[in-house]
Amino acid sequence: MRPVAIVPAAGLGERMGADKALLDLGGRTAIERVAATCRAASIDRVVAVRRAGAAPLPSSAGVQAVEVAGGGDMAASLRAAHRVLPADVDAALVFPVDHALVEADTVLALTALLRRPGCAVALPLFRGRPGHPALFTRAAFAEIEADGATLRDVVRREPARVQVVPTANPWVAADLDRPEDLRAAVCALHGEPWSTVAQMFRHRSHRSYRPDPVPAVQIERLVDAARHASTSSYIQAYAVIAVRDAAARAECARLCGGQRHIVEAPVFFAVCADLHKLAAACGRHGTTLQAQSLELFLQATVDAALLGQNLQLAAEAEGLGACMIGAARNHPIELAARLGLPPHVYVVFGMTVGVPADDPVPRGRMPLAGVLHWDRYDADVGAVLDGADEVMRTWARRANLEQGGYNGRPVSEGKGWTERMAAAWGADSSYAAARRTLREELRRLGFGLE
Ligand SMILES: Cc1cc2nc3c(=O)[nH]c(=O)nc-3n(C[C@H](O)[C@H](O)[C@H](O)COP(=O)(O)O)c2cc1C
Repeated sequence: MRPVAIVPAAGLGERMGADKALLDLGGRTAIERVAATCRAASIDRVVAVRRAGAAPLPSSAGVQAVEVAGGGDMAASLRAAHRVLPADVDAALVFPVDHALVEADTVLALTALLRRPGCAVALPLFRGRPGHPALFTRAAFAEIEADGATLRDVVRREPARVQVVPTANPWVAADLDRPEDLRAAVCALHGEPWSTVAQMFRHRSHRSYRPDPVPAVQIERLVDAARHASTSSYIQAYAVIAVRDAAARAECARLCGGQRHIVEAPVFFAVCADLHKLAAACGRHGTTLQAQSLELFLQATVDAALLGQNLQLAAEAEGLGACMIGAARNHPIELAARLGLPPHVYVVFGMTVGVPADDPVPRGRMPLAGVLHWDRYDADVGAVLDGADEVMRTWARRANLEQGGYNGRPVSEGKGWTERMAAAWGADSSYAAARRTLREELRRLGFGLE
């Protein structure tokens, strides 16, 4: 086989804030890394597509650069590369710089796959999701010239000619789009293949999901891992209801402010504070649970929160997306009845989990100086609030620019964090008003706050 690698690298890297081909990945630029990976897999010819006026690529990459006009899409870049392919080339490996951490073994596996009878498109698969680089026979690749077809059209047109190779490398399915992706890549280059800390930086709440189910074995694994969080005095005062039934999820959604993502996600977890088991343990030994205790309420609530956060992180680590649902406290008694909760159990928050269908702009966080203090609470709160406002405005600008706003509506770029918080939690707080009955509802569910 005589393949050529095509590296689409004509974008402005707006979300990254830098030219992605020239990102420093462990002392080598992304384009150098891609070219080296191709060479290690015996693909010596590499064509990089660059926008006119882009910075030159390092000569050490040894790639042929092809120019396209700025503002074009991926398909335009690929067509430009297709037109310069030498006559003897019989396969094209499309290898975006986003996937620069993919290793040569994946490329070798793809070339072996393309040699199989009937295979015209070879894709790597990470945890069931196809990614890049993707290898095409020359004839299949040439189809991008036909009436505006995209690479995705070429892949989907004839499923029978597409073959996949599973890989353990998450970078086949992960983009290098944003600064946090770069941070994750750099972490990976420094040791752990996908570090926990890098994963935490990549957190975003996802509110749209593909219909793919989350298998029961995966749910069991995630919840089992999550409950290994620390637990106050070893009381393990939590319970999780995994709601998969569509009608039951619709009912939960109705009780949680009608949030669409609860209906859309394949599973909705109700993360509960659970003193029922503790009450039973007391009963077994002739004592009575001090259910009126504020301390016990707090312990159970903190326990549930720790489990919930662990669950979200575990789900994210396995390529899923999640969103916590505090609106589970809108109608706590009805929700408890719907879920068959026994006395002394309430839903602290819910959580939607599934394969994400959205790509939300990360919210960012207020300056660290407002959160991390050294030896004593030492923040300049005014400066922290200014910083928090700026983070919020930056998010709003990006959300408007990249996604036409948030939830289908433009976001006000003028409003900072302080103004929003003052509106939500100040004198006329509708949030606080909506939860005014919570104390009494919790009491009826078996929690005293004394
Ligand atoms: C306890 C808790 C309850 C939440 N409740 C909701 C909710 O009901 N609906 C929702 O869409 N997001 C909910 N969220 C998600 C927050 O809005 C989100 O975490 C926050 O805006 C920061 O965005 P990020 O998670 O994408 O960084 C909740 C988060 C937490 C921690």
